[in-house]
Amino acid sequence: MNDNTQPDNTPSAPAAQQPPTAATKPVVILGIESSCDDTSAAVISDGVLLSNVTASQAVHEAYGGVVPELASRAHQQNIVPVVDQALCRAGVSRADLSAIAFTRGPGLLGSLLVGVSFAKGMAAALGIPMVDVNHLQGHVLAHFIREPGVEAHHPPFPFLCLLVSGGNSQIVLVRAYNDMQIIGQTIDDAAGEAIDKCSKVMGLGYPGGPIIDRLARQGNPDAFHFARPAIPGFDYSFSGLKTSFLYSLREWLQTDPDFIAHHKADLAASLEATVVDILMNKLRRAAKSLDIKHVAVAGGVSANTGLRQAFLDHARRFGWTVYIPKFGFTTDNAAMIAITGHYKYLDGDFCPMDAPAFSRVAL
Ligand code: KG4
Repeated sequence: MNDNTQPDNTPSAPAAQQPPTAATKPVVILGIESSCDDTSAAVISDGVLLSNVTASQAVHEAYGGVVPELASRAHQQNIVPVVDQALCRAGVSRADLSAIAFTRGPGLLGSLLVGVSFAKGMAAALGIPMVDVNHLQGHVLAHFIREPGVEAHHPPFPFLCLLVSGGNSQIVLVRAYNDMQIIGQTIDDAAGEAIDKCSKVMGLGYPGGPIIDRLARQGNPDAFHFARPAIPGFDYSFSGLKTSFLYSLREWLQTDPDFIAHHKADLAASLEATVVDILMNKLRRAAKSLDIKHVAVAGGVSANTGLRQAFLDHARRFGWTVYIPKFGFTTDNAAMIAITGHYKYLDGDFCPMDAPAFSRVAL
């Protein structure tokens, strides 16, 4: 490993206009992710993951949600050591890099700007191209990360991907690495957002998803019933469920002020079961209507035990082949940005130096 390689400062064409080298050198991509509250860097060589380093930000726990200004400050502190660690663990020097892939959006603008500016500075200093990555595309392509010594289980095209996170709930038709179409999405709250808010109402910690998941394992999923949306097509809605949860709780608390403490696990299990049921219902309809049996799940909520189990049940009941990411690739990580960068690099799909970050951008 040589982690002390100095940047090549020889004058060169603007980074974004440089073509990929057709030589036999491996394609080595440094991925950088900073869209929310995780600062992450990863190195992928010829599609194989060499390192994936993430610094999470505990500072937000005290506020019950991500505070954008604190997030961008923490990214600034973390970005240099995280990138350094990723290169070091990969045994790759800066001179070995073919390109730098970075999350351009969607996300918190202040957070994105740290990663985007860092990627631009580093690419300019090294004279290598930059590849801009849509964070949501990254979540979907996490299914194509190859790890040394791990047998590959990649979905064939076309497949459906349920993309569920704190900010998104979408059904994506994936035709190719760079050809994706959203066929259904939430018209209001995302699934993760609804779970987090209900957890907050119960006075549990942040983020609520993993806490609800843990509690749900000890509870009865049929104990309580909450509103389910009646939305046409393959779209989702979770705001009604959130309201129904809040109003039901208020009513029950009137008769028993310790209702939450007495029924914590049952509330969590019933909430989780409702969210999973809503998600799987539309996914099942979409899969049937498009006659697709290869179905994947991605995003932070795909870490949920109940949702993972529902995928396995659907595989058995409906003959689906299902693709469930490893836990480390469910929440925000740079490995998914690097693998997306890898495929865009092979397509020669680079971005110019003046590319701005986007807080909102479609898939
Ligand atoms: O993809 P992600 O890390 O960030 C973005 O929103 O982009 O997703 C975060 C979401 C949060 O809402 C969090 O509560 C949820 O994923 N989450 C879970 C679990 N782990 C994380 N939700 C349910 N069960 C889990 N085990």
